[in-house]
Amino acid sequence: MLASALDGLRLSLHVLAATIWVGGQFTLAGLVPSLRLVGDQATLIAAKTFSKFSWPAYYVLVITGLWNVSVVHMSSTTTGWKIVLGIKIFVVGLSGLSAYLHTKAKSKKKVAFWGAVSGTSAAAAVVLGVFLDG
Ligand code: HEM
Repeated sequence: MLASALDGLRLSLHVLAATIWVGGQFTLAGLVPSLRLVGDQATLIAAKTFSKFSWPAYYVLVITGLWNVSVVHMSSTTTGWKIVLGIKIFVVGLSGLSAYLHTKAKSKKKVAFWGAVSGTSAAAAVVLGVFLDG
């Protein structure tokens, strides 16, 4: 069935923001070895520039995520759907928190750890979102 204009707008904004928040993290992680060849400053500048796009995308994801939930009739959803939604909200929070801790980490180990947590939880949010869409 073809989506209405408003449903199309809601899901398009949600998915476009996901491509920036999730795809951007993976792309930047893949570029780090090449950026390091240029110098440590290059990695830092690229990360700072990415955060100008990634955080607005994260806020759009949370706003459009709440919009997604608001159009669902909770009485017509299954317990499984509600559990998946709860897990998804948890991983979205984890992805945001770990991305923040990643930017604040001082040691290389912590930078790598929080970066991996953020990327993995962001990817998990995509998979859970696809299941929620049905
Ligand atoms: C890192 C943040 C997030 C990512 C990467 C993400 C990703 C996605 C993706 C890829 C879809 C599938 C869209 C489709 O198949 O057309 C989706 C759907 C959905 N998301 Fe998210 N999402 C995020 C945050 C949230 C939040 C915070 C909520 C709720 C508060 C939420 C609730 C939903 C719901 C209910 C659906 C199903 C929409 C529908 O069937 O119309 N999402 N999400």
